[in-house]
Amino acid sequence: GERIGAVLNHGIHPVDLHARSLANGHRGGVLWLTGLSGAGKSTIAAEVERRLFLRGWQVTILDGDALRLGLNSDLGFSPEDRAENIRRSGEVAHLLAESGLIVLAAFISPYRADRDRVRSINPEAFHEIHVATSLDECERRDPKGLYGQARAGAIPHFTGLTAPYEPPETPELALVTEGRSVEESVSDLLHYIDATFALT
Ligand code: PPS
Repeated sequence: GERIGAVLNHGIHPVDLHARSLANGHRGGVLWLTGLSGAGKSTIAAEVERRLFLRGWQVTILDGDALRLGLNSDLGFSPEDRAENIRRSGEVAHLLAESGLIVLAAFISPYRADRDRVRSINPEAFHEIHVATSLDECERRDPKGLYGQARAGAIPHFTGLTAPYEPPETPELALVTEGRSVEESVSDLLHYIDATFALT
């Protein structure tokens, strides 16, 4: 409102990240949620998005499963296709963050090198969040029945079973979901977001 008017009325200020964060009341950035299928990435992202939206923050979700219906519909699950999936999605995530949004990106992103490349686009704006649910627990939950299908041989290259998952070594935050409620994980991530993106 007034703050942004005071900045832009001088006429010499570009609509840059600083102006956007003044207008929004918070910084932008990428929260990159990585973890196995069924770990809880999408569930946590959806609730965090809802809570930030309710307080008027500029926030959006990029979800692997959803982007594979459109932007990435030409890609499968080979290592090469996953790399391209993460490369494209990472570029989009950083573009949105540069326009001031808090981007909740939820991708299995099983390869460390692919995630590190996304980080390298703009390390200051990238926050790696490990949704650290174990394979045993994901398979026990099996919310989409995919582990059952993969065990039966119907899904090749299934992450955790017949394709690798390389966990982050030094994530900015690790969310342990086992034995904890969704609300507890959501609350942990919201605290991290407040500490990182609120204007002080
Ligand atoms: S990746 O590895 O980052 O490129 O994957 P992502 O774009 O996040 O897509 C993961 C969703 O695709 C479905 N699916 C599979 N996952 C893993 N391995 C194989 N082979 C596979 N085939 C289909 C699955 O529903 C994943 O969704 P989530 O939400 O992660 O469970």
